[in-house]
This record gives sequence, C-alpha cells and structure tokens, in this order.
Amino acid sequence: MERKHNEFITASGLRVSMPVPGIVRVTDGMHKGSYMVSAPTRRTAPKVSGEALTWGKITVEPENGMALFYDGKLLCVDYPGSRRLRTSLSPEEVAQLSSEGHVPSEALAEAGEWKVEVVKTLAPDAVVYGLGDKTGFLNKRHYAYENWNTDDPTPHCDNYKSLYKSINFFMVYSENGCLGILADNSYRTRFDFGKEQEDYYFWSHAGGALDYYMIPGKTPKEVLRRYQSLTGRSMLQQKWVYGFHQSKWSYYTDGEVLGMVSTMRENKLPIDAVHMDIDYMEGFRVFTFNSARFSDPKAMTAKLAEQNVKAITIIDPGVKLDPGYFVYDEGVEQGHFARNPDGSIYEGAVWPGPAVFPDYTQEKTRIWWGEKVKIMTDAGIRGIWNDMNEPANFTGPLPDDVKFSEGNHKEIHNVFGHLMAKATYDGLLKADGRRPFVLTRACCAGSQRYCSGWTGDNHSMWQHLQLSLTQMMNLGLSGMNMVGSDVGGFGSDATPELLVRWFQLGAISPFFRDHYAKGTRNQEAYAFDQATMDGCRKALDLRYHLLPYIYDLAHEDMPILRPLVLEYPEDPVCRELTDQCMLGDRLLAAPVMTPGVSARAVYLPKGVWFDYYTGKRYTGGKYVLAEAPADRMPLFAKAGAVIPVSAGKPQCVEEITRVVLEVFPGNGRYVHTMDDGESMDYLDGGVRRIEIRVQGHQLEQKVIADGYPGPDVLEIRWMA
Ligand code: NOJ
Repeated sequence: MERKHNEFITASGLRVSMPVPGIVRVTDGMHKGSYMVSAPTRRTAPKVSGEALTWGKITVEPENGMALFYDGKLLCVDYPGSRRLRTSLSPEEVAQLSSEGHVPSEALAEAGEWKVEVVKTLAPDAVVYGLGDKTGFLNKRHYAYENWNTDDPTPHCDNYKSLYKSINFFMVYSENGCLGILADNSYRTRFDFGKEQEDYYFWSHAGGALDYYMIPGKTPKEVLRRYQSLTGRSMLQQKWVYGFHQSKWSYYTDGEVLGMVSTMRENKLPIDAVHMDIDYMEGFRVFTFNSARFSDPKAMTAKLAEQNVKAITIIDPGVKLDPGYFVYDEGVEQGHFARNPDGSIYEGAVWPGPAVFPDYTQEKTRIWWGEKVKIMTDAGIRGIWNDMNEPANFTGPLPDDVKFSEGNHKEIHNVFGHLMAKATYDGLLKADGRRPFVLTRACCAGSQRYCSGWTGDNHSMWQHLQLSLTQMMNLGLSGMNMVGSDVGGFGSDATPELLVRWFQLGAISPFFRDHYAKGTRNQEAYAFDQATMDGCRKALDLRYHLLPYIYDLAHEDMPILRPLVLEYPEDPVCRELTDQCMLGDRLLAAPVMTPGVSARAVYLPKGVWFDYYTGKRYTGGKYVLAEAPADRMPLFAKAGAVIPVSAGKPQCVEEITRVVLEVFPGNGRYVHTMDDGESMDYLDGGVRRIEIRVQGHQLEQKVIADGYPGPDVLEIRWMA
C-alpha cells in the first residue's frame, strides 16, 4: 500500500482515507466532485500497523477485502466469491424482453448496463434500512431497487424499483453493529440487499467513478448522525410550516383559494398554508400568474395573511417554449437550457406543451432561476413547491446524451431535482431572508440541506396509507426529516374512513398536507359528512396541540417521525416494526391503517408506558391491545416523557401563545427550545432553551440558553 497525504492506495488502485471524522472513503480517484457530500474534508492520519489502518474505534484492512472493524467487530467486508445470478438471458432474449418493456435488472447487467459494482458480504442476521422513498416495508433485506428518479403515476406497489428520489444511502445493521454506505455517484444505481443471494449485498452504477463512504457506528442512530455530518442536516423550517397545509390540483381562482380558507376557519379546521398548483399560472408559464383568475396575487396573499395563512406556489422546471415569454427568452439569450449533442436546445414537453429544461448544473443558471423566485416573494408567496423535477417529460425520458454543463443526462438525471431545489433555496433566502421552505418531489442524498420532500402521487388506498408511513420512516433514516405524503391520497377517491385515518397519521407526519388530484372527489375535511369532518378536526387539533413538541424535534438532528428501531435497536421486534412509529424518543404512535378497526395490537418496548389519553400504565416488552375508535389513533408516552403542548385550541401556529409541559412520571431529561420561528438567528445563538429534569413525580426546570426572550419556567400538567 502506498501512502500519499493520508490517503492509502491499494495494489488495485483504490484509495482509502478518513476525510471526515469517523467516516471512511473508498474511491478509484476518478470522481470529479460531489453533489451529495457537503462536509469540508480534511484527511486524518491513522495509526498504521502492517496492512491495517486504525482511526480510534475504526480499523480498515484495505488489502484484506476492504474489511472494516468497529470496536473490534467486523462490520463490512468485500464478498470473497462471485455473484451468482438468478436470471441469465441471451442477448436476443434481453432485446426481445426490452422491446416489450420487461427487462429484469439482472438481464441488464448481462447486457453490460452496469459499469461499476461493489459486492459485500451480508451477515445472516443483518437488516437493511434507507434508500429514501422506496416502496415496501422498513427492512429492505431481500429486495432490490434502482435509483433513477422516476415519475410513475400508476399506484406504487412493493415491486416498484424506482420512485422520485434517489438517495444512495442505506444502513446494514447486525449483531456486530451498524454500517452506513453512501454510494457517491449520480448515475443510475441499483441496489440488491440479499435478493439475488442470501449471503451478499451489492450496488452497481451505470457509469462514473467508484466512490463510497463507509459510516460505522454501534447503532443506526450513531450512523445517521455521522451521515448527516457528511451530507448535511435537514433544514429547520419556519414554525408555520409545521402547521397544516391544504392543497388541491388546483384551486382555480383567488376566490377559490380565499373561499377554502374561510370555510376551514368557519368550521374550526386549523390551517396555516394553502398550496397553489399549476393552474394559477398563465398557460403554465413558470413565474407568472394568470391575470384573469389571479388578477392581484399580492392582494390575495395579503388577505390570506390577515387570516394567518401563507400561500405556496408550485414551480416546475419545464419552461414553455414560447418566444416572447421572458423566462424563455432570457434563458435562450443567456444560455441557460440543456442542449442536444449538436448544440441546439433540447425540446421536450410538459404541462405547457413544448418545453425546455434549465441546466441547473451551471451556477449562472441557478442564480438566474433563484432571482426569478423574487417575482413570487414580491407577490407575497412564502414557499416554493418544486414538482416534475425528476425531470418528468411527456415525450419520454430525456435521451442519455442531452448535454448539461457538468455532464450528460445519464450523469445528471438523479441530481437535477437536487440542483433545482438548491437554486430555489438560495433564491428564496436572498429574496425573503427567512428560512426557505422548498418542497420537492425529486432529490438525491444531501438534498435535505435545501428542501423538504413529499412522497409524490399516491392514491386514496389503504395500502398507500401503510406505504406512506414506511416511506416517511425510511426517508428519516436517509437523512430527510421534513417529509410527508399526500394526506387522503392524491389519485382515486378517499372514503370517509380512510381520510380520517390518514389525517391521524398526518397529525404526526413532519410535513402535513392534504392534496388531491384533478378529477377525484373533493378532499378538504369539510367536503365530507359531519362525522368525518369532526374526525379530521380532532386529528388537526392533536397536531396543533403537539406542535411545540414537533418544533422541538425539528431542532434536533434526528428524524421527527422515526421507526422504533432508532430508539430500541437492541430489540429484535423493533427492527421489523413497520406499522408503528415514534414521534421523537418518548411518544409512540400506532396509526390505524386498515378499515373497520376499533382496536389494534401495539408493541411497547421494554420500560413503563402510559396511554397518552387516559394515563393508564403499561409495562412494555410486549404487545398490548389498544382501543382505536374511529376518531383516535393509539398514542403512548414513555415514563419520564415531557411533551410541550399548546394551551387552548389554536387555529394556526400564530395562535400558539402559551406552552404547557405535559409530564409523565418517571426519569427523563428534556430540552424545550424557543426562538423567533422564522429567521436564521437560531444558528447564531438566537434561542431560549429550558432543560427539564424529571425524577418520579419531581421536576426541575433550568434555563440553559437565553439568546431569545421568554419565560424561565413553564406551566406543568402531570399526566399520570
Ligand atoms: C404531479 C404532482 O406530483 C402533483 O402533486 C401535482 O398536483 C401535479 N403534478 C400537477 O401539478
């Protein structure tokens, strides 16, 4: 092994280093630059003994199958044998299947699609988490996926390999500990977690360099924390963003927008934001408002502001090909659009018909796009929703050879949404100065630095209610904390029961938005019968009750909504639990996700738990049967839990003026954070923090940061 500036080069040319504390990088040295990694890198020198490199608890043996040991235990090693394919097809068969649109990815491998591949040994007891919004359940072992940002409007099922997001991060957790892998390559990437064969997992890229990071830790939590130190933390949002959002494709006029908000207020259905979908534009031209239907957007947003409601507009990347339209003209003149190999501008089609696509890999294009965002903020718009940014194209996928300044489409596709979100984020920050709210459909690893995400076009189906919980949990385990699904389902028609159950899950989802498609039944809570509206209101009230707690969690570097395995990794039941989740580390939720149910089994990990509603005490380490009447989702608090809640019944975040601490007896420490709820000052000490220590029925409060004015002690409510 050769050593150069704390990088070790193996006989086969792989370079091994520790560029960020606790994280080992393995690369062939061919990578131009990373879209995913944000940490400043400085290589730490290891202790070298023979062929082993040791950094604290981590030892790597590069010439011994790149074996990585953490605390003396083997966490990762190259698979010593060769892959044993399950499908082998002749090139003719591949061509035939491919013309029918049915090419198994194993066959593509045979056809030479995959250029770079890493195969690692899979321990018999290992479970696998991550990869963002993929379908299926929590544990991804035995499944294979492909990261290629895909807009597929058909109902997503377990066998779907690709969806909108391509987060090349996963964790393999076994008795020996946890290992996170970030495969830092933007090309199409496939992952197989023991589907092909039990004893190995692998990933392969369709091009580009070999560059991956091994992120070891004892538990998934440790690994996730380190992963965020490499790719960035999810942005804290303005406080109102954690309130309820109502959306529809589309509210057609300003009157309809205002009417929806008034009806919500009249019916005491709390709301903080309305989303305006594509029809607000002039002929789907981005950065315009339809002058007949939205004649004075500024006046409309001012009226919304009087009701404490913010407006968010959708902005798609496709720019209408329309000489005379300022965005198109400027883009052509200034060279902002992706091109064909012959240098002409590439033309596709999206909502506006023929359209061109910005080349967000150019800094000048990102700045230009960001400057356009000011048109929206000048009209009083408070957040931007980026859609269709896989990029989706109605004339079929962009050809591989469409040119962007940093590579062709094949290389750029998976980071297109990420770069669009970055441009939007920077533009919003500059124009508005407050914490930018950018909601995206497509993204990649690291996008959490710029945007929140939603899970795209689901349907009003019970299966999709289930799917959305596991998608949110896996997105959280992939570094994206601020996520949600279309509550009630986007496509198809929600039944009353499904809507209420989905609102209950929405109440604990980091991002809570009811959104539905054109042509499906109206899905605002008030569009249903009285009992359904009452059920939805109860869920909304729960959300606003818990909002101070949710906002505290948003200040942390762990997912707001998380799988139980993050808190109880040592408990084998929790490793597979996909129909329960935790809100923070002390509140356990068991959403009802099947129809006709009035009670459900809830697994309580070891320890003492209390029914959140009745205070009834339970001893954990077992399943209990919880009442789950139509208008209530089972919730349990761990002994010693402190849950800051809103006093009264706020109808929007602005109305949360008093916080009360709900306390469950036991032992615990909690920190409640207060700040101005919108500026970036929190990064600079602009926070007030109260530390609360609970011991049995005793409680102490202490101010530990006073960079923001507020009370020294909070009112307490013992819950048991
Ligand atoms: C697709 C998005 O996923 C959906 O949420 C939106 O309503 C439509 N595009 C129309 O903009």
